[in-house]
Amino acid sequence: MSLLAVTDLSIAYGGIQAVHGVSLTVAPGRIATVIGPNGAGKTTLLGAIMGVLPSRGAIHFDGTSLSGTDIETRVDRGLSLVPEKRELFTTMTVLENLRLGGWRHRAEGAEARHRGLDEAFALFPRLAERRSQRAGTLSGGERQMLAMARALMARPRLLMLDEPSLGLAPLIVRDIFRTIVRLRDQGVAVLLVEQNARAALDIADEAYVLEMGRITLSGNAATLAADPRIVEMYLGALPKA
Ligand SMILES: Nc1ncnc2c1ncn2[C@@H]1O[C@H](COP(=O)(O)OP(=O)(O)OP(=O)(O)O)[C@@H](O)[C@H]1O
Ligand SMILES: [Mg+2]
Repeated sequence: MSLLAVTDLSIAYGGIQAVHGVSLTVAPGRIATVIGPNGAGKTTLLGAIMGVLPSRGAIHFDGTSLSGTDIETRVDRGLSLVPEKRELFTTMTVLENLRLGGWRHRAEGAEARHRGLDEAFALFPRLAERRSQRAGTLSGGERQMLAMARALMARPRLLMLDEPSLGLAPLIVRDIFRTIVRLRDQGVAVLLVEQNARAALDIADEAYVLEMGRITLSGNAATLAADPRIVEMYLGALPKA
């Protein structure tokens, strides 16, 4: 059964519809990716799944409808979002940001809290070195690592990532994407939204192409990566001059 099932979801800003009847699923322990150009509706889609934007249609998580539930409830159920703009607390340290990420487990005692931090630092050793540094002074790659680590402190069952490669150098992107695979292998399901189609299709199990608010292609990620339409639109050589 799917962990996340989105069915016929439509999202509008005022009178303008940004997402039209989108359906997708994420299976437990799998990476599903949504690729698509600027303005396709990727961030909007994640916002509705997380409960920050109203939508029409159905969203089920682990077989239960999320309809009418607020963000806190969705976090409690096991959803977590790393937003496109990272949204770190820039004047707070790395450690303080992580502690806030683990807020939902605050009642569990010191040992569990330390275990969460240890796991975050094992995944991102660079953050351990910088635990006392203010988040606002981190490099772009370190900020993305912190945003992911903070989301993981909530111990999500589904981690949603909005363009984790945005603005990062290829080597850092490779590191971040390897970490996403590691998380998947540890049992966390991932919904990865990306414009970097090549990197996303490389690590994803299932893939969806979102264009102008509609899913135009979907299927096994490796199959999609070989589809001539995808190669031409998203993976091909530079356009001819
Ligand atoms: N707060 C808003 N108010 C009105 N329209 C919005 C708002 N946010 C997004 N939109 C519109 O919704 C559409 C989808 O935007 P969205 O940010 O979801 O695209 P995206 O696929 O995430 O793009 P990008 O790759 O550039 O991040 C766009 O046409 C955008 O202008
Ligand atoms: Mg976006």
